[in-house]
Amino acid sequence: MACCHADFALTDASDKAFTVGMSTFTFGHGCLGEAGDQARELGLRRVALFTDAALRDSAHVATVSSSLAAAGVDVVIYDAVVVEPTTASFKAAAKFATEGGFDGYVSVGGGSVMDTCKAANLYATYPAEFMTYVNAPIGAGQKVPGPVKPHIACPTTAGTGSETTGIAIFNLTEINAKTGIISRRLIPTVALIDPDVTRTLGKNVMAASGFDCMSHALESLTARAWPRRQNPARGASRPVSQGANPFSDALASEALKAVGKFLVRAVNDASDVEARTEMMYAATQAGIAFNAAGCHLPHGLSYAVSGLARDFHVPGYPEGKTLVPHGMAVVLNNPSVWRYTAPCAPERHIRAAAFLGGETRGAMLEDAGEALAGRVIELMRAAGMPNGLAELGFGSEDIDALANGAEPQYRVIRNAPKEVSRDDLKSLFGSAMRYW
Ligand SMILES: NC(=O)c1ccc[n+]([C@@H]2O[C@H](COP(=O)([O-])OP(=O)(O)OC[C@H]3O[C@@H](n4cnc5c(N)ncnc54)[C@H](O)[C@@H]3O)[C@@H](O)[C@H]2O)c1
Ligand SMILES: [Fe+2]
Repeated sequence: MACCHADFALTDASDKAFTVGMSTFTFGHGCLGEAGDQARELGLRRVALFTDAALRDSAHVATVSSSLAAAGVDVVIYDAVVVEPTTASFKAAAKFATEGGFDGYVSVGGGSVMDTCKAANLYATYPAEFMTYVNAPIGAGQKVPGPVKPHIACPTTAGTGSETTGIAIFNLTEINAKTGIISRRLIPTVALIDPDVTRTLGKNVMAASGFDCMSHALESLTARAWPRRQNPARGASRPVSQGANPFSDALASEALKAVGKFLVRAVNDASDVEARTEMMYAATQAGIAFNAAGCHLPHGLSYAVSGLARDFHVPGYPEGKTLVPHGMAVVLNNPSVWRYTAPCAPERHIRAAAFLGGETRGAMLEDAGEALAGRVIELMRAAGMPNGLAELGFGSEDIDALANGAEPQYRVIRNAPKEVSRDDLKSLFGSAMRYW
């Protein structure tokens, strides 16, 4: 493989293999109705069903809970998940799970719900002080000691891919920045991916989660190549995310083709079943890709943006608190990052722009950053995204604080295709203020 994939040529210092993890997934219209069957197959008798307050009375939760009940499985619903979860909301969910004596978990919701369910399952199975499993250096970064309880994940947004990843993200309120817990043990056992759920998705949630999917695929494709990963570990201790590899490349490329064709349609017309179905599938593909390859700068920078935003709210998300939807925080950094990373892997950036439907005929290597940034900006404008961080209320006076917020995100920033200094972070935020 190394000989025909120049990007993946091994050196003496390289890890000699890469590992890909994912859930066993079922994709197709109506498959939420298989939840009971899957739970029975896993030997479950009493499950906690995680969802959020807005989805509590939805047809999606009703379908899953009645399927579980018909299979003879006891269901206790937990609807106190916080959209864009926090330290407190993860802890509350863990307490509920610990006290409930469940033999399995079901999540019906977006990334916020699935991630909260993963964390609750972990702390109920292996109780520990909260920071024990949180990524180092922010937390202690300890390994999950063993298998957690079975988890059936049912995504209701078309974006995060959390149904296939070993990642649980939350806002660590104490430092006002996002971080997470990452372990192959947290990958849901089974995912039921039913595109019918997208018919109730509002325009803004569709747009933000769709751009999250796009960025997962772009970051997978442009991440540091796996043979160049620092500190290679071997065997079972190999990290979940290891850098761009042939498997993640293939899935990320397919996901980008779908995003280029269907994202804007899916945002602008909730009745466009084809577009929303394709986006649902793209999200799963991009999820498998970035779980193996890892994200890098757009996600690393986004965690500071969402942590530091003030007085910002988007219709379709819970009222009453400042909230920058995750996918929006991510895409607002995208064009700035692609202009910066393109010189390290220009062919990959041009290829990515072409997959997204950009015009790349005749593009020279030095045009790579502009080709990709330009196509992403076209999609942002067509899907109604804000024109850069300035529209969220940020200005040049916030750049130091934003760089401070991004700096601790070593896990993802070190996965970028080049070394990134604090000055680089500042200039990336500066270039993300306004795009058109
Ligand atoms: N674990 C991972 O691998 C991973 C990857 C990417 C993002 N994330 C995390 O996921 C979270 C974002 O998740 P998200 O974008 O899926 O959104 P979300 O779960 O935060 O939900 C956003 C809003 O959409 C509503 N909603 C969800 N599905 C709906 C449906 N079918 N119909 C109507 N309304 C619906 C919710 O009630 C909520 O108000 C962030 O915390 C982010 O950091 C995790
Ligand atoms: Fe994401």
